[in-house]
Amino acid sequence: MEQKLIIVVLLVLALATATAITAEYVRPPPRKTLHFPWNPKPSSHPQQVHISFAGDKHIRVTWVTSDKSSPSIVEYGISPKNYSSKAQGESNSYSYFLYSSGKIHHTVIGPLEDDTLYFYRCGGEDPEFQLKTPPSQFPITFSVAGDLGQTEWTKSTLGHIEQCKYDVHLLPGDLSYADYMQHKWDTFGDLVQPLASSRPWMVTQGNHEKENIPILKDGFVSYNSRWKMPYEESGSSSNLYYSFEVAGVHTIMLGSYTDYDKYSDQYNWLKADLLNVDRERTPWLLVLFHVPWYNSNNAHQGEGDDMMVAMEPLLYAAGVDIVFAGHVHAYERSKRVYNGKLDPCGPVHITIGDGGNREGLAHKYREPEPEWSIFREASFGHGELKIMNSTHALWSWHRNDDDEQVSKEKNIIKKPARPPPPSPGSLGIPIIGQSLSLLWAMRANTADRWMAERAKRYGPIPKLSLFGKPAVFIHGQAANKFVFTSDHSIMNNYQTESIKMILGNRCLLELSGEDHKRERSVLA
Ligand SMILES: *[C@@H]1O[C@H](CO)[C@@H](O)[C@H](O)[C@H]1NC(C)=O
Ligand SMILES: *[C@@H]1O[C@H](CO)[C@@H](O)[C@H](O)[C@H]1NC(C)=O
Repeated sequence: MEQKLIIVVLLVLALATATAITAEYVRPPPRKTLHFPWNPKPSSHPQQVHISFAGDKHIRVTWVTSDKSSPSIVEYGISPKNYSSKAQGESNSYSYFLYSSGKIHHTVIGPLEDDTLYFYRCGGEDPEFQLKTPPSQFPITFSVAGDLGQTEWTKSTLGHIEQCKYDVHLLPGDLSYADYMQHKWDTFGDLVQPLASSRPWMVTQGNHEKENIPILKDGFVSYNSRWKMPYEESGSSSNLYYSFEVAGVHTIMLGSYTDYDKYSDQYNWLKADLLNVDRERTPWLLVLFHVPWYNSNNAHQGEGDDMMVAMEPLLYAAGVDIVFAGHVHAYERSKRVYNGKLDPCGPVHITIGDGGNREGLAHKYREPEPEWSIFREASFGHGELKIMNSTHALWSWHRNDDDEQVSKEKNIIKKPARPPPPSPGSLGIPIIGQSLSLLWAMRANTADRWMAERAKRYGPIPKLSLFGKPAVFIHGQAANKFVFTSDHSIMNNYQTESIKMILGNRCLLELSGEDHKRERSVLA
Protein backbone atom coordinates (compact mmCIF):
# COMPACT_ATOMS: atom_id res chain seq x y z
CA MET A 1 0.00 0.00 0.00
CA GLU A 2 2.68 2.40 1.09
CA GLN A 3 4.67 1.63 -1.99
CA LYS A 4 1.73 2.35 -4.23
CA LEU A 5 1.26 5.70 -2.56
CA ILE A 6 4.86 6.61 -3.20
CA ILE A 7 4.55 5.74 -6.84
CA VAL A 8 1.46 7.88 -7.18
CA VAL A 9 3.21 10.80 -5.53
CA LEU A 10 6.20 10.38 -7.79
CA LEU A 11 3.98 10.35 -10.86
CA VAL A 12 2.34 13.58 -9.81
CA LEU A 13 5.75 15.09 -9.26
CA ALA A 14 6.87 13.83 -12.62
CA LEU A 15 3.91 15.45 -14.32
CA ALA A 16 4.56 18.72 -12.58
CA THR A 17 8.14 18.92 -13.79
CA ALA A 18 7.55 17.58 -17.23
CA THR A 19 10.96 18.24 -18.66
CA ALA A 20 13.15 17.19 -15.78
CA ILE A 21 11.68 13.91 -14.71
CA THR A 22 14.34 11.46 -15.65
CA ALA A 23 15.65 11.02 -12.12
CA GLU A 24 12.52 10.41 -10.00
CA TYR A 25 10.73 7.48 -11.62
CA VAL A 26 12.05 4.11 -10.49
CA ARG A 27 12.17 2.14 -13.66
CA PRO A 28 11.45 -1.56 -13.72
CA PRO A 29 14.33 -3.74 -14.95
CA PRO A 30 14.36 -5.59 -18.30
CA ARG A 31 12.07 -8.59 -18.35
CA LYS A 32 12.94 -12.06 -19.48
CA THR A 33 12.73 -13.34 -23.01
CA LEU A 34 9.45 -15.06 -23.79
CA HIS A 35 9.38 -18.82 -23.85
CA PHE A 36 7.50 -20.32 -26.75
CA PRO A 37 6.38 -23.89 -26.03
CA TRP A 38 6.80 -26.45 -28.81
CA ASN A 39 3.41 -26.52 -30.39
CA PRO A 40 3.45 -28.35 -33.70
CA LYS A 41 0.64 -27.56 -36.15
CA PRO A 42 -0.47 -29.41 -39.29
CA SER A 43 2.06 -28.52 -41.97
CA SER A 44 -0.46 -26.65 -44.12
CA HIS A 45 -1.62 -24.53 -41.16
CA PRO A 46 -1.11 -20.79 -41.85
CA GLN A 47 1.35 -19.25 -39.38
CA GLN A 48 2.80 -15.80 -38.74
CA VAL A 49 0.02 -14.02 -40.63
CA HIS A 50 0.58 -10.31 -41.15
CA ILE A 51 -0.77 -7.68 -43.53
CA SER A 52 0.66 -4.54 -45.14
CA PHE A 53 -0.41 -2.00 -47.75
CA ALA A 54 0.24 -2.90 -51.37
CA GLY A 55 -0.77 0.17 -53.36
CA ASP A 56 -4.05 2.04 -53.35
CA LYS A 57 -6.91 -0.01 -51.85
CA HIS A 58 -4.84 -3.20 -51.86
CA ILE A 59 -3.41 -5.20 -49.01
CA ARG A 60 -0.71 -7.85 -49.05
CA VAL A 61 -1.33 -10.87 -46.83
CA THR A 62 1.83 -12.70 -45.79
CA TRP A 63 1.96 -16.05 -44.02
CA VAL A 64 4.13 -19.13 -43.66
CA THR A 65 3.37 -22.83 -44.04
CA SER A 66 5.68 -25.77 -43.40
CA ASP A 67 3.99 -27.53 -46.31
CA LYS A 68 5.78 -26.52 -49.51
CA SER A 69 2.80 -27.51 -51.65
CA SER A 70 0.31 -25.31 -49.83
CA PRO A 71 -1.26 -22.82 -52.31
CA SER A 72 -0.71 -19.03 -52.03
CA ILE A 73 -4.39 -18.18 -52.16
CA VAL A 74 -6.42 -15.87 -49.95
CA GLU A 75 -10.20 -16.08 -49.85
CA TYR A 76 -11.99 -13.03 -48.44
CA GLY A 77 -15.31 -11.26 -48.05
CA ILE A 78 -17.25 -8.91 -45.81
CA SER A 79 -19.21 -11.51 -43.87
CA PRO A 80 -17.84 -14.42 -41.86
CA LYS A 81 -17.22 -17.72 -43.64
CA ASN A 82 -18.59 -16.24 -46.86
CA TYR A 83 -15.72 -15.55 -49.22
CA SER A 84 -16.90 -13.66 -52.26
CA SER A 85 -13.39 -13.06 -53.61
CA LYS A 86 -10.20 -15.00 -54.02
CA ALA A 87 -6.67 -13.91 -54.93
CA GLN A 88 -3.62 -15.86 -56.01
CA GLY A 89 -0.21 -14.73 -54.84
CA GLU A 90 3.44 -15.74 -54.94
CA SER A 91 5.80 -17.40 -52.50
CA ASN A 92 9.46 -17.62 -51.61
CA SER A 93 11.69 -19.32 -49.08
CA TYR A 94 15.29 -19.02 -47.99
CA SER A 95 17.93 -21.01 -46.19
CA TYR A 96 20.46 -19.80 -43.70
CA PHE A 97 23.14 -22.37 -42.93
CA LEU A 98 21.30 -25.30 -41.34
CA TYR A 99 17.97 -23.50 -41.17
CA SER A 100 15.46 -23.57 -44.00
CA SER A 101 12.39 -21.43 -43.82
CA GLY A 102 8.87 -22.59 -44.48
CA LYS A 103 7.05 -21.50 -47.60
CA ILE A 104 6.50 -17.73 -47.27
CA HIS A 105 3.35 -16.66 -49.11
CA HIS A 106 2.61 -13.09 -50.27
CA THR A 107 -0.84 -12.51 -51.73
CA VAL A 108 -2.29 -9.14 -52.65
CA ILE A 109 -6.04 -8.73 -52.19
CA GLY A 110 -8.27 -5.92 -53.42
CA PRO A 111 -9.53 -3.48 -54.44
CA LEU A 112 -10.98 -3.23 -50.94
CA GLU A 113 -13.56 -0.83 -49.54
CA ASP A 114 -12.29 1.80 -47.09
CA ASP A 115 -12.95 1.50 -43.38
CA THR A 116 -14.45 -1.97 -43.72
CA LEU A 117 -14.08 -5.20 -41.82
CA TYR A 118 -13.02 -8.15 -43.97
CA PHE A 119 -12.92 -11.84 -43.11
CA TYR A 120 -10.25 -13.95 -44.76
CA ARG A 121 -8.39 -17.21 -44.70
CA CYS A 122 -5.06 -18.27 -46.12
CA GLY A 123 -4.13 -21.24 -48.31
CA GLY A 124 -7.67 -22.59 -48.23
CA GLU A 125 -7.32 -23.48 -44.53
CA ASP A 126 -8.94 -22.29 -41.35
CA PRO A 127 -8.70 -20.37 -39.07
CA GLU A 128 -10.49 -17.33 -40.32
CA PHE A 129 -8.83 -13.94 -39.71
CA GLN A 130 -10.29 -10.44 -39.68
CA LEU A 131 -8.81 -7.21 -40.91
CA LYS A 132 -10.06 -3.65 -40.95
CA THR A 133 -9.10 -1.40 -43.84
CA PRO A 134 -8.18 2.20 -42.93
CA PRO A 135 -10.53 5.13 -43.47
CA SER A 136 -10.12 7.17 -46.65
CA GLN A 137 -10.29 10.47 -44.73
CA PHE A 138 -9.19 12.02 -41.46
CA PRO A 139 -9.23 11.17 -38.66
CA ILE A 140 -6.78 8.30 -38.85
CA THR A 141 -4.71 6.83 -36.02
CA PHE A 142 -1.23 5.36 -36.23
CA SER A 143 0.36 3.43 -33.41
CA VAL A 144 4.15 3.65 -33.33
CA ALA A 145 6.74 1.51 -31.54
CA GLY A 146 10.19 0.34 -32.59
CA ASP A 147 12.79 -2.08 -31.21
CA LEU A 148 10.18 -4.62 -30.19
CA GLY A 149 11.99 -7.91 -29.66
CA GLN A 150 10.15 -10.70 -27.85
CA THR A 151 10.28 -10.29 -24.09
CA GLU A 152 7.66 -9.91 -21.37
CA TRP A 153 7.92 -6.15 -21.98
CA THR A 154 7.18 -6.67 -25.69
CA LYS A 155 4.03 -8.50 -24.64
CA SER A 156 3.06 -5.61 -22.40
CA THR A 157 3.61 -3.07 -25.21
CA LEU A 158 1.65 -5.17 -27.72
CA GLY A 159 -1.21 -5.48 -25.22
CA HIS A 160 -1.39 -1.70 -24.91
CA ILE A 161 -1.25 -1.17 -28.67
CA GLU A 162 -4.11 -3.63 -29.01
CA GLN A 163 -6.25 -1.55 -26.64
CA CYS A 164 -5.82 1.59 -28.72
CA LYS A 165 -8.10 2.01 -31.69
CA TYR A 166 -5.41 2.26 -34.29
CA ASP A 167 -5.67 1.90 -38.06
CA VAL A 168 -2.04 1.28 -39.01
CA HIS A 169 1.07 0.31 -37.03
CA LEU A 170 4.38 1.99 -37.87
CA LEU A 171 7.60 0.25 -36.84
CA PRO A 172 10.86 2.19 -37.25
CA GLY A 173 13.15 -0.86 -37.24
CA ASP A 174 14.36 -3.74 -35.08
CA LEU A 175 11.63 -6.33 -35.14
CA SER A 176 12.48 -9.79 -33.86
CA TYR A 177 15.98 -9.51 -32.33
CA ALA A 178 16.53 -12.93 -33.91
CA ASP A 179 20.18 -11.99 -34.44
CA TYR A 180 21.07 -14.90 -36.76
CA MET A 181 18.89 -17.43 -34.88
CA GLN A 182 16.40 -17.88 -37.70
CA HIS A 183 13.74 -19.76 -35.75
CA LYS A 184 13.29 -16.58 -33.69
CA TRP A 185 11.90 -14.88 -36.78
CA ASP A 186 9.21 -17.58 -36.70
CA THR A 187 8.39 -17.05 -33.02
CA PHE A 188 8.28 -13.28 -33.57
CA GLY A 189 5.85 -13.77 -36.47
CA ASP A 190 3.58 -15.79 -34.21
CA LEU A 191 3.89 -13.30 -31.34
CA VAL A 192 2.69 -10.33 -33.43
CA GLN A 193 0.13 -12.26 -35.51
CA PRO A 194 -2.94 -11.28 -33.43
CA LEU A 195 -2.24 -7.60 -34.13
CA ALA A 196 -0.43 -7.76 -37.45
CA SER A 197 -3.07 -9.96 -39.10
CA SER A 198 -5.80 -7.45 -38.33
CA ARG A 199 -4.21 -4.04 -39.10
CA PRO A 200 -1.52 -3.15 -41.64
CA TRP A 201 1.95 -3.23 -40.09
CA MET A 202 4.33 -1.00 -41.98
CA VAL A 203 7.95 -1.59 -41.04
CA THR A 204 11.42 -0.43 -41.88
CA GLN A 205 14.64 -2.16 -40.97
CA GLY A 206 17.11 -1.70 -38.12
CA ASN A 207 20.54 -3.09 -37.33
CA HIS A 208 19.02 -6.29 -35.95
CA GLU A 209 17.59 -7.07 -39.38
CA LYS A 210 21.01 -7.03 -41.08
CA GLU A 211 22.26 -10.50 -40.16
CA ASN A 212 24.99 -10.31 -42.78
CA ILE A 213 28.16 -12.35 -42.58
CA PRO A 214 30.90 -11.03 -44.84
CA ILE A 215 31.43 -13.25 -47.90
CA LEU A 216 28.99 -15.91 -46.65
CA LYS A 217 25.65 -14.16 -46.27
CA ASP A 218 24.16 -10.95 -47.65
CA GLY A 219 22.28 -8.70 -45.27
CA PHE A 220 18.50 -8.59 -44.78
CA VAL A 221 17.84 -12.05 -46.27
CA SER A 222 15.30 -13.02 -43.66
CA TYR A 223 13.77 -9.55 -43.32
CA ASN A 224 13.28 -9.13 -47.06
CA SER A 225 11.81 -12.61 -47.44
CA ARG A 226 9.35 -12.26 -44.58
CA TRP A 227 8.42 -8.57 -44.42
CA LYS A 228 7.83 -7.63 -48.02
CA MET A 229 6.73 -3.98 -48.15
CA PRO A 230 5.21 -2.03 -51.11
CA TYR A 231 8.50 -0.93 -52.65
CA GLU A 232 7.57 -1.94 -56.19
CA GLU A 233 4.24 -0.18 -55.79
CA SER A 234 6.10 3.02 -54.82
CA GLY A 235 8.70 2.99 -57.59
CA SER A 236 11.61 1.82 -55.41
CA SER A 237 14.02 -0.90 -56.43
CA SER A 238 14.62 -2.07 -52.87
CA ASN A 239 12.50 -3.40 -50.01
CA LEU A 240 14.69 -1.27 -47.72
CA TYR A 241 12.96 2.01 -48.70
CA TYR A 242 9.48 2.76 -49.99
CA SER A 243 6.43 4.94 -49.41
CA PHE A 244 2.69 4.55 -49.07
CA GLU A 245 -0.36 6.77 -48.83
CA VAL A 246 -3.36 6.40 -46.61
CA ALA A 247 -6.13 8.90 -45.75
CA GLY A 248 -4.33 12.16 -46.48
CA VAL A 249 -0.94 10.98 -45.16
CA HIS A 250 2.12 10.24 -47.28
CA THR A 251 4.58 8.10 -45.32
CA ILE A 252 8.16 7.45 -46.39
CA MET A 253 10.19 4.59 -44.95
CA LEU A 254 13.94 5.00 -45.32
CA GLY A 255 16.86 2.64 -44.73
CA SER A 256 19.56 3.68 -42.25
CA TYR A 257 21.70 0.72 -43.32
CA THR A 258 21.78 1.13 -47.07
CA ASP A 259 23.47 3.87 -49.12
CA TYR A 260 22.00 7.33 -48.66
CA ASP A 261 24.58 9.67 -50.18
CA LYS A 262 23.77 12.00 -53.07
CA TYR A 263 24.69 9.42 -55.69
CA SER A 264 22.81 6.52 -54.12
CA ASP A 265 19.66 4.90 -55.46
CA GLN A 266 17.93 5.62 -52.18
CA TYR A 267 18.66 9.34 -52.38
CA ASN A 268 17.43 9.56 -55.94
CA TRP A 269 14.34 7.56 -55.19
CA LEU A 270 13.60 9.83 -52.19
CA LYS A 271 13.95 12.96 -54.30
CA ALA A 272 11.58 11.58 -56.93
CA ASP A 273 9.11 10.39 -54.31
CA LEU A 274 9.06 13.80 -52.61
CA LEU A 275 8.42 15.52 -55.94
CA ASN A 276 5.37 13.31 -56.41
CA VAL A 277 3.82 14.24 -53.11
CA ASP A 278 0.66 16.22 -53.64
CA ARG A 279 0.05 18.19 -50.46
CA GLU A 280 -3.54 18.81 -51.41
CA ARG A 281 -4.22 15.09 -51.51
CA THR A 282 -1.87 14.21 -48.63
CA PRO A 283 -1.34 17.27 -46.41
CA TRP A 284 0.67 15.18 -43.93
CA LEU A 285 4.14 13.92 -44.69
CA LEU A 286 5.77 11.45 -42.27
CA VAL A 287 9.21 9.86 -42.50
CA LEU A 288 10.55 6.85 -40.59
CA PHE A 289 14.01 5.32 -40.31
CA HIS A 290 15.93 3.52 -37.62
CA VAL A 291 18.84 5.66 -36.43
CA PRO A 292 17.69 9.03 -34.99
CA TRP A 293 19.17 12.31 -36.19
CA TYR A 294 18.12 14.25 -33.09
CA ASN A 295 19.07 12.23 -30.04
CA SER A 296 20.27 13.56 -26.69
CA ASN A 297 20.70 10.11 -25.13
CA ASN A 298 24.25 8.87 -24.64
CA ALA A 299 23.34 5.69 -26.51
CA HIS A 300 24.13 5.72 -30.24
CA GLN A 301 25.24 9.34 -30.06
CA GLY A 302 26.11 10.74 -33.48
CA GLU A 303 25.35 7.52 -35.39
CA GLY A 304 22.73 9.24 -37.53
CA ASP A 305 24.92 12.22 -38.45
CA ASP A 306 26.06 11.10 -41.90
CA MET A 307 22.57 10.27 -43.07
CA MET A 308 21.34 13.54 -41.62
CA VAL A 309 23.95 15.56 -43.51
CA ALA A 310 22.95 13.81 -46.73
CA MET A 311 19.18 13.85 -46.43
CA GLU A 312 17.97 16.45 -43.94
CA PRO A 313 17.89 19.30 -46.50
CA LEU A 314 15.65 17.23 -48.78
CA LEU A 315 13.18 16.51 -46.00
CA TYR A 316 13.22 20.15 -44.95
CA ALA A 317 12.66 21.48 -48.46
CA ALA A 318 9.72 19.10 -48.82
CA GLY A 319 8.13 20.30 -45.57
CA VAL A 320 8.12 16.96 -43.73
CA ASP A 321 5.91 17.14 -40.62
CA ILE A 322 7.18 14.38 -38.33
CA VAL A 323 10.21 12.07 -38.38
CA PHE A 324 10.08 8.84 -36.32
CA ALA A 325 13.17 6.82 -35.43
CA GLY A 326 14.02 3.94 -33.09
CA HIS A 327 17.41 2.44 -32.16
CA VAL A 328 17.76 4.29 -28.84
CA HIS A 329 15.77 2.34 -26.23
CA ALA A 330 13.97 5.35 -24.82
CA TYR A 331 11.53 8.06 -25.80
CA GLU A 332 12.36 11.59 -26.90
CA ARG A 333 10.40 14.31 -28.70
CA SER A 334 11.90 17.42 -30.26
CA LYS A 335 10.54 20.84 -31.07
CA ARG A 336 10.48 21.72 -34.76
CA VAL A 337 14.12 21.67 -35.75
CA TYR A 338 16.41 21.88 -38.75
CA ASN A 339 20.18 21.83 -39.05
CA GLY A 340 20.53 21.58 -35.27
CA LYS A 341 18.55 24.75 -34.63
CA LEU A 342 14.95 25.50 -33.79
CA ASP A 343 13.05 26.23 -36.98
CA PRO A 344 9.28 26.67 -37.28
CA CYS A 345 9.32 24.96 -40.69
CA GLY A 346 11.41 21.95 -39.65
CA PRO A 347 9.91 18.57 -38.72
CA VAL A 348 9.25 17.31 -35.19
CA HIS A 349 11.62 14.40 -34.48
CA ILE A 350 10.42 11.55 -32.28
CA THR A 351 12.62 8.70 -31.08
CA ILE A 352 10.52 5.75 -30.03
CA GLY A 353 12.79 2.72 -29.71
CA ASP A 354 11.13 1.62 -26.48
CA GLY A 355 9.05 -1.36 -27.62
CA GLY A 356 10.52 -3.74 -25.05
CA ASN A 357 13.50 -5.72 -26.33
CA ARG A 358 15.91 -7.81 -24.25
CA GLU A 359 18.72 -5.26 -24.29
CA GLY A 360 16.89 -3.02 -21.82
CA LEU A 361 16.68 0.75 -21.63
CA ALA A 362 19.15 3.53 -22.43
CA HIS A 363 19.15 5.58 -19.21
CA LYS A 364 21.89 8.16 -19.60
CA TYR A 365 21.18 11.51 -21.18
CA ARG A 366 23.51 14.28 -22.25
CA GLU A 367 23.51 17.41 -20.14
CA PRO A 368 22.61 20.13 -20.56
CA GLU A 369 19.52 19.12 -22.48
CA PRO A 370 19.73 20.59 -26.00
CA GLU A 371 17.26 23.40 -26.72
CA TRP A 372 15.46 21.34 -29.34
CA SER A 373 14.66 18.49 -26.92
CA ILE A 374 11.29 18.93 -25.27
CA PHE A 375 10.66 15.60 -23.52
CA ARG A 376 12.91 12.60 -22.90
CA GLU A 377 12.51 9.53 -20.78
CA ALA A 378 13.91 6.01 -20.76
CA SER A 379 10.87 3.75 -20.30
CA PHE A 380 9.14 1.09 -22.36
CA GLY A 381 5.96 2.13 -24.15
CA HIS A 382 4.38 3.09 -27.44
CA GLY A 383 3.06 6.19 -29.21
CA GLU A 384 -0.23 7.09 -30.86
CA LEU A 385 -0.60 9.67 -33.61
CA LYS A 386 -4.18 10.66 -34.30
CA ILE A 387 -4.33 12.93 -37.32
CA MET A 388 -7.51 14.94 -36.85
CA ASN A 389 -7.62 16.97 -40.05
CA SER A 390 -5.30 18.60 -42.54
CA THR A 391 -3.72 20.86 -39.91
CA HIS A 392 -3.93 19.21 -36.48
CA ALA A 393 -2.66 15.94 -35.07
CA LEU A 394 -2.73 14.64 -31.51
CA TRP A 395 0.42 12.84 -30.43
CA SER A 396 0.60 10.89 -27.17
CA TRP A 397 3.21 8.66 -25.63
CA HIS A 398 2.12 5.83 -23.34
CA ARG A 399 4.44 4.28 -20.80
CA ASN A 400 4.13 0.68 -19.63
CA ASP A 401 4.01 1.23 -15.87
CA ASP A 402 4.27 -2.33 -14.74
CA ASP A 403 1.35 -3.56 -16.75
CA GLU A 404 -0.73 -0.43 -16.53
CA GLN A 405 -0.75 1.87 -19.48
CA VAL A 406 -0.09 5.45 -18.46
CA SER A 407 -0.37 8.30 -20.89
CA LYS A 408 2.74 10.29 -20.09
CA GLU A 409 2.85 12.91 -22.71
CA LYS A 410 0.34 14.58 -24.99
CA ASN A 411 0.92 17.23 -27.57
CA ILE A 412 -1.01 18.75 -30.42
CA ILE A 413 1.17 18.98 -33.49
CA LYS A 414 -0.02 21.85 -35.62
CA LYS A 415 1.13 22.52 -39.13
CA PRO A 416 2.68 25.90 -39.85
CA ALA A 417 0.04 28.27 -41.16
CA ARG A 418 -0.73 28.04 -44.84
CA PRO A 419 -3.44 29.53 -47.03
CA PRO A 420 -6.78 27.81 -47.36
CA PRO A 421 -7.15 25.92 -50.64
CA PRO A 422 -8.89 27.85 -53.41
CA SER A 423 -12.44 26.83 -54.08
CA PRO A 424 -12.74 24.44 -57.00
CA GLY A 425 -13.54 25.73 -60.47
CA SER A 426 -12.84 29.16 -61.92
CA LEU A 427 -11.74 31.80 -59.47
CA GLY A 428 -13.69 34.37 -61.46
CA ILE A 429 -11.88 37.40 -60.05
CA PRO A 430 -10.24 39.27 -62.93
CA ILE A 431 -7.65 41.12 -60.92
CA ILE A 432 -6.35 37.97 -59.27
CA GLY A 433 -6.23 35.92 -62.45
CA GLN A 434 -4.24 32.74 -61.95
CA SER A 435 -2.30 33.99 -58.92
CA LEU A 436 -4.00 31.96 -56.26
CA SER A 437 -4.02 28.72 -58.12
CA LEU A 438 -0.32 29.11 -58.92
CA LEU A 439 0.52 30.01 -55.33
CA TRP A 440 -1.45 27.11 -54.07
CA ALA A 441 0.26 24.76 -56.51
CA MET A 442 3.64 26.08 -55.35
CA ARG A 443 2.76 25.48 -51.71
CA ALA A 444 1.45 22.04 -52.54
CA ASN A 445 4.60 21.24 -54.45
CA THR A 446 2.69 20.72 -57.68
CA ALA A 447 3.70 23.91 -59.48
CA ASP A 448 5.53 21.87 -62.12
CA ARG A 449 2.41 20.04 -63.03
CA TRP A 450 0.36 23.23 -62.95
CA MET A 451 2.74 24.93 -65.35
CA ALA A 452 3.04 21.92 -67.62
CA GLU A 453 -0.74 21.77 -67.87
CA ARG A 454 -0.96 25.42 -68.86
CA ALA A 455 1.86 25.01 -71.37
CA LYS A 456 0.03 22.09 -72.91
CA ARG A 457 -3.13 24.13 -73.26
CA TYR A 458 -1.75 27.50 -74.24
CA GLY A 459 1.64 26.85 -75.88
CA PRO A 460 5.23 27.12 -74.63
CA ILE A 461 5.05 30.72 -73.38
CA PRO A 462 1.60 30.98 -71.83
CA LYS A 463 0.25 34.32 -70.76
CA LEU A 464 -0.98 34.78 -67.24
CA SER A 465 -2.51 37.44 -65.14
CA LEU A 466 -0.67 37.56 -61.84
CA PHE A 467 -1.55 40.02 -59.14
CA GLY A 468 -3.29 42.26 -61.60
CA LYS A 469 -0.33 42.42 -64.00
CA PRO A 470 -0.01 40.58 -67.28
CA ALA A 471 2.81 38.06 -67.07
CA VAL A 472 4.43 35.28 -69.02
CA PHE A 473 6.24 32.33 -67.72
CA ILE A 474 9.13 30.58 -69.29
CA HIS A 475 9.95 27.05 -68.40
CA GLY A 476 12.12 24.14 -69.51
CA GLN A 477 15.92 24.07 -69.61
CA ALA A 478 16.55 27.75 -70.28
CA ALA A 479 14.27 28.90 -67.50
CA ASN A 480 15.70 26.41 -65.03
CA LYS A 481 19.17 27.65 -65.78
CA PHE A 482 18.09 31.25 -65.34
CA VAL A 483 16.49 30.63 -61.96
CA PHE A 484 19.06 28.22 -60.65
CA THR A 485 22.09 30.31 -61.51
CA SER A 486 20.83 33.82 -60.82
CA ASP A 487 20.13 35.04 -57.34
CA HIS A 488 18.47 38.10 -55.92
CA SER A 489 21.21 40.36 -57.24
CA ILE A 490 20.66 39.46 -60.90
CA MET A 491 17.03 38.52 -61.03
CA ASN A 492 14.76 41.23 -59.90
CA ASN A 493 11.50 40.16 -58.55
CA TYR A 494 8.75 42.18 -57.39
CA GLN A 495 6.92 40.51 -54.69
CA THR A 496 4.82 42.27 -52.19
CA GLU A 497 5.18 41.41 -48.50
CA SER A 498 1.87 39.54 -48.55
CA ILE A 499 3.04 37.32 -51.40
CA LYS A 500 6.27 36.61 -49.54
CA MET A 501 4.26 35.54 -46.59
CA ILE A 502 2.28 33.11 -48.67
CA LEU A 503 5.28 31.69 -50.48
CA GLY A 504 7.34 31.63 -47.34
CA ASN A 505 10.80 33.10 -47.16
CA ARG A 506 12.39 29.92 -48.36
CA CYS A 507 11.14 30.31 -51.90
CA LEU A 508 14.11 30.02 -54.26
CA LEU A 509 13.29 33.33 -55.92
CA GLU A 510 13.57 35.15 -52.61
CA LEU A 511 16.95 33.92 -51.51
CA SER A 512 20.35 35.29 -52.25
CA GLY A 513 23.99 34.39 -51.75
CA GLU A 514 24.76 31.36 -49.59
CA ASP A 515 21.14 30.64 -48.87
CA HIS A 516 20.29 30.54 -52.53
CA LYS A 517 23.19 28.18 -53.18
CA ARG A 518 22.14 25.82 -50.41
CA GLU A 519 18.52 25.65 -51.45
CA ARG A 520 19.56 25.23 -55.07
CA SER A 521 21.81 22.32 -54.20
CA VAL A 522 18.86 20.66 -52.50
CA LEU A 523 16.70 20.96 -55.57
CA ALA A 524 19.39 20.23 -58.16
C1 LIG B 1 -22.36 -13.90 -48.96
O1 LIG B 1 -21.81 -12.69 -49.47
C2 LIG B 1 -22.46 -12.19 -50.61
C3 LIG B 1 -21.66 -10.99 -51.13
O2 LIG B 1 -20.89 -10.41 -50.16
C4 LIG B 1 -23.91 -11.83 -50.25
O3 LIG B 1 -24.57 -11.35 -51.38
C5 LIG B 1 -24.60 -13.06 -49.69
O4 LIG B 1 -25.88 -12.73 -49.24
C6 LIG B 1 -23.81 -13.67 -48.54
N1 LIG B 1 -24.39 -14.93 -48.13
C7 LIG B 1 -24.60 -15.23 -46.86
C8 LIG B 1 -25.21 -16.58 -46.60
O5 LIG B 1 -24.31 -14.49 -45.94
C1 LIG C 1 -8.71 20.64 -36.95
O1 LIG C 1 -8.84 20.06 -35.67
C2 LIG C 1 -8.55 20.95 -34.62
C3 LIG C 1 -8.58 20.16 -33.33
O2 LIG C 1 -9.66 19.30 -33.27
C4 LIG C 1 -9.56 22.10 -34.64
O3 LIG C 1 -9.28 23.01 -33.59
C5 LIG C 1 -9.45 22.81 -35.99
O4 LIG C 1 -10.42 23.84 -36.07
C6 LIG C 1 -9.66 21.82 -37.11
N1 LIG C 1 -9.38 22.48 -38.37
C7 LIG C 1 -10.12 22.29 -39.46
C8 LIG C 1 -9.68 23.01 -40.68
O5 LIG C 1 -11.10 21.57 -39.46
